[in-house]
Amino acid sequence: MTRVFSGVKPTGHLTLGNYLGAMRQWAAVDQHEADAVFCIVDLHGMTVDHDPARLRRLTRQAATLLLAAGLDPELCTVFVQSHVDEHARLSYVLECVATDGEMRRMIQYKDKSARERARGGSVRLSLLTYPVLMAADILAYGAGEVPVGDDQAQHVELARDLAVRFNQRYGHTFVVPKATLPRVAARVMNLQEPTSKMGKSDDSGPGIVYLLDEPDVVRRKVLRAVTDSGREVVYDREGRPGVANLLEILAACTGGNPESLASVHQSYGALKKDTAEAVIEALGPVQARHKELCADPGYVEEVLRHGAEKARAMARPTVDTAYRAIGLLPPVAEPALNAAR
Ligand code: TRP
Repeated sequence: MTRVFSGVKPTGHLTLGNYLGAMRQWAAVDQHEADAVFCIVDLHGMTVDHDPARLRRLTRQAATLLLAAGLDPELCTVFVQSHVDEHARLSYVLECVATDGEMRRMIQYKDKSARERARGGSVRLSLLTYPVLMAADILAYGAGEVPVGDDQAQHVELARDLAVRFNQRYGHTFVVPKATLPRVAARVMNLQEPTSKMGKSDDSGPGIVYLLDEPDVVRRKVLRAVTDSGREVVYDREGRPGVANLLEILAACTGGNPESLASVHQSYGALKKDTAEAVIEALGPVQARHKELCADPGYVEEVLRHGAEKARAMARPTVDTAYRAIGLLPPVAEPALNAAR
């Protein structure tokens, strides 16, 4: 069975974009059809200025929401990255395989570091090395497939390159992974800025629907979504990105398709209304389950503890192999008590 690995970064409250674009597919498809491993990548949440208490809170919340969205610990592995040392252990080894030039070419690094410098801030070194840690996440588990949005495709490509290079230099150690774009999932755009993704990290509220938004809040955000000039509802991603985004969200929530949904809506207002209600309906069960899980924090903790244990057992042998292959002297095992005498 193919191993699938994906990660979610606890840098903001999870959004409708995370849900329709990833989590829902993980729950509906991946955990049933693959040996699926899902990681809350908290180490990745420290590459830019962060607040320790908030990181902790968001990590727990992301775990709770993944379960609320339907990930079943009986079917897949859910854990927190920092609970498993193998990620950091392998990341350093991969830093000895990756090059400085490769890191500086990463689009996300270029964008984020330029933005940070423009604000007069300093850029954490971990922002530069982030893709190596992400490669370690993937390679430690021997994942063949990595379902991610297209903004992460370049990082998965790097993981491939590093796997191939390591294997050539030091002997076959890693499965060479590939990115898979989610089949059914929508690419949900910001409601106020329909040409950019509905990301959780750019905490600019009105264009982002959070998974835990109350129905009234969802309604307000969707009804105030930016639409395009023109009046008829047509599905045209290029020319009418705002309307196209609403149609795609509605399609993703109801299982319809954007073209035919366009033809049954007479006005932007009607489309917004239907979209708002469809989103509220889609989020309802997730929110209800989230509430139940919050009332039972011991359960979530136990899932994460057990998840980390399973994850460690999966990653450890591969990372040990990489350590040996690259020339690190194996530690001598502690002699058994009796044998020592
Ligand atoms: N970089 C990914 C993001 O920002 C999160 C991530 C970290 C990830 N490690 C991963 C995704 C490994 C897939 C596999 O969304």
